[in-house]
Amino acid sequence: MEAHLLEWINLIVRWVHVIVGIAWIGASFYFVWLENNLDRTVKNPELAGELWAIHGGGIYHLQKYNLAPATMPKHLHWFKWEAYSTWLTGVLLLALVYYINANSYLVAPGSSLSATATIALGFGVLVIGWIAYDLLCKSPLRHQPALLGIVLILFLTAAAWGLSQFMSGRAAYIHVGAIIGTMMVGNVFFVIMPAQRSLVAAVEAGETPDPSKPKNALLRSRHNNYLTLPVVFIMISNHFPSTYGHEWNWLILLGVSLVSVGVRHYFNIRHKAQQFIWILPGAMLAMFVMAYVTAPKPLPIVADQHTNEAPAKISDDQALAIVTQHCVDCHAAQPKSPAFASAPGGVMLENVLQIRLHSEAVYQQSVATQVMPLGNMTQMTTLERQQLGTWLLQKK
Ligand code: HEC
Repeated sequence: MEAHLLEWINLIVRWVHVIVGIAWIGASFYFVWLENNLDRTVKNPELAGELWAIHGGGIYHLQKYNLAPATMPKHLHWFKWEAYSTWLTGVLLLALVYYINANSYLVAPGSSLSATATIALGFGVLVIGWIAYDLLCKSPLRHQPALLGIVLILFLTAAAWGLSQFMSGRAAYIHVGAIIGTMMVGNVFFVIMPAQRSLVAAVEAGETPDPSKPKNALLRSRHNNYLTLPVVFIMISNHFPSTYGHEWNWLILLGVSLVSVGVRHYFNIRHKAQQFIWILPGAMLAMFVMAYVTAPKPLPIVADQHTNEAPAKISDDQALAIVTQHCVDCHAAQPKSPAFASAPGGVMLENVLQIRLHSEAVYQQSVATQVMPLGNMTQMTTLERQQLGTWLLQKK
């Protein structure tokens, strides 16, 4: 019952998280696009630019002011709750998935840190990440955006490597995503919103607004735009064990992030120049290189424990015994593990037929990447993985 209730709470929070996340990122993409596509030849000296667009059967005329109109309109729409609610539901989800069952989902098998310490580490890096990023943005590096970008990428890569020493690959990835998400929402809360408030206050008081604050807000908003793509990859990454489950998972995360930032950059400057068009085939090539690098290695032949010779075959009974010992507490129609109300991922492994049915996935999860058993709770050995792999590959 408890596991069932938790599943539904998870469902609701995850659903809301995705919906408000779409609203946030959708608005962010739209406004960056708008900014990039403004017609800046407009005559009106009050305006920075304008844009005509057609959508949903109607024609729109948008104008951006140089700083602000002489008088404030009665209704000014602010975008902020999308960002705040995405972060709040995200942190809740982090707790629901990774902290409640920390030993299965969070802690790296064989880690020297306790579950509580790992949770503290996970939450701590969100705070440290924001402070470090904010300091970087205020340092002299702010005059060199490309260099700032490189330092930021190095910082996040170091975080991914560091976290993967104590957390399962999956949890390390999601925490890097949460660090980036916290930076993004911090930008909204601590930089963009205050800048907008002071702009509006100045206009209302009849003063000339200080242009440096909106400029800084626009810079942070651009950072958010670039950071979005790696975050979205991380959010879907737990479907892809060959990324987070690989021994160089932190390097793969760096690779995918570079690809996504490059592609984002191409789309952001496409209106100005096509000289970066090579990024697109380059990105595709990089994805295939990563697919090649992460391909499962051929299994070493399993030597028989007693005779030290390669066994001719692993029998169905041997394979079933391994899976029964290491997988079936969770992967059964009625799991014995109290953490699950039904078979995780719908995968049941209670007999040879069922294992064969999922053979590709079983190989991927427990032989090629070793992300299963979750948190290696049942302490499956390398030999057992090799034996199971040998059985899965041999003809039926
Ligand atoms: C402690 C519980 C637990 C144990 C033990 C366990 N699993 Fe899992 N398994 C899970 C959970 C939870 C998921 C769903 C992962 C997710 O949230 O995406 C899963 C998912 C899977 C999937 C499906 C992945 C997908 O494509 O969605 C496969 C295949 C799998 N496990 C195989 C195994 C094998 C093989 C073993 C034994 C060697 C094993 N599992 C042991 C909990 C467990």
